[in-house]
Amino acid sequence: MDKNFYITTPIYYPSAKPHMGHAYSSIIADFFARFKTIDDYNVYFLTGTDEHGLKIQRSAEKAGQDTLKFCDQISKTFKDLSKILNLSNTDFIRTTEERHKKTVQYLWTELEKNGDIYLSKYSGWYSISDEAFYNNDEIEELEGNKVAITSKSPVEWIEEESYFFKLSKWEKPLLDYYEANPDFISPASRKNEVISFVKSGLKDLSVSRKTFSWGIQVPNNKEHVIYVWLDALTNYLSALNYPETKDRLFKKFWPASIHLIGKDILRFHAIYWPAFLLAAKIDLPKKIYGHGWILSGEEKMSKSRGNILDPLEIIEKYGLDPLRYYLIKEVSFGNDGNISQERLEDCINSDLANNYGNLCQRVTAFASKNCNGRIPSSVKFQTDDLKILNKYKDNLGNIRSKIDQQDINFYIEYIVNSLFEANKYFNDQEPWKKKDDLIRLNTIVYTTLEIVRKISFLLYPIIPESSLKALQIFNLSKKDIKLESIANNEFLVKDKMINTIDILFKKIEKKND
Ligand code: ME8
Ligand code: MG
Repeated sequence: MDKNFYITTPIYYPSAKPHMGHAYSSIIADFFARFKTIDDYNVYFLTGTDEHGLKIQRSAEKAGQDTLKFCDQISKTFKDLSKILNLSNTDFIRTTEERHKKTVQYLWTELEKNGDIYLSKYSGWYSISDEAFYNNDEIEELEGNKVAITSKSPVEWIEEESYFFKLSKWEKPLLDYYEANPDFISPASRKNEVISFVKSGLKDLSVSRKTFSWGIQVPNNKEHVIYVWLDALTNYLSALNYPETKDRLFKKFWPASIHLIGKDILRFHAIYWPAFLLAAKIDLPKKIYGHGWILSGEEKMSKSRGNILDPLEIIEKYGLDPLRYYLIKEVSFGNDGNISQERLEDCINSDLANNYGNLCQRVTAFASKNCNGRIPSSVKFQTDDLKILNKYKDNLGNIRSKIDQQDINFYIEYIVNSLFEANKYFNDQEPWKKKDDLIRLNTIVYTTLEIVRKISFLLYPIIPESSLKALQIFNLSKKDIKLESIANNEFLVKDKMINTIDILFKKIEKKND
């Protein structure tokens, strides 16, 4: 059977240039995409920009620019960032593209045809920053202004003619769906949030606006543009050329395996999106994962709060892989996390330089001197060797299932422990004292090299560039990386020359060291 995996990031608003929060979601998605790729899946990895709506229109006005030109510019900074982050994305979608408009208008027509859309009048609170409607009980006063309680974004009262989506009709089917598919919303804490919101009663949703024009027109009524969230969410389908359901992309990759998002936009993904899909009789995505926030002090890092950290500056200073490693390891996945350069430097020094880099250097230097620079050929495993080698085979199934539960914390801990263990093994076995017993010496070196190889495979989804650099020791490249082969204890070809490599990670000199 074909193994297909479709993962998406949110499509980001090009209202201002990207920050660390965007980089975080994209790096995590890339981690999953690369993991599935080395596990022999066909992977479709989608990211992009969400370009319609009042928020963008106003940002362009403020910058004194034509709206589309403004989007072109900032969307490009997001696209550039995806290169800089070394994302393995298959596609980058912009909602101003023709392919997307077609899908959105088609979906609208379907919803209308199925009796889920009607014309009426909206009056209520709206936050432009969140592009969201809020109920009275979701609003509070902050320093004399009305804001949304959850996001603290200012809200304004709007009253206008609007098309509505019959969200109320889907209250029960949604609750049934959550119950029948307990992993649909993850992590579990977020699920409860959603369920209690739905249980408190869903009102019909305003899905068009009449007082501005920057959006996709409602078919058959040029006075209205489609609500930006209905527009944006549909990107997950338009990238697969929906409604061309005969198209191999849609057939192969829908329903999506996982929509990875930040918890700020859970309601849109876990309530509105499945309701739209149910109404249009389209299968629901398999999972919505709402990760936590990168904080700046106590607050969410966000462009509207102006407390952002620029990923480019950090990458400039430390390199990409250290940042990727740090974000994946230190922001406990699913929870909020503070980030600091101090902790990033600790990570580089202890995990990357001392633990991984050092292991690679030590064993290759030793093999150069003592094994003619070759992968040893006369090897006879003993219990100690097999114990450390077999751990990978024994854990392969577990690693796969942990990843299917998005348990990144397990994955990284497994790697860190494996690195400690490998260094300890090399120390304890003291191959430098085995010069009279070449088979033993060779076996220790072979075992350690195999472990370097296995760990580098496992590190590939996290730090692809450095992992590939380490794998040059064995002349291995991207196409050789197969997760399955961590179960193999004799993957390395005996007697082949090994390459020495440059230092993988430079240690950061810390002021107080
Ligand atoms: O909401 N910590 O776009 P957006 C972690 N266009 N992740 C963060 C973050 C932080 N401090 N700040 C942002 C939108 N993110 C819509 C999405 S999808 C159909 C439409 C990440 O530019 C996180 O993934 O406000 C969050 O959900 C997303 O960026 C919001 O990006
Ligand atoms: Mg936002």
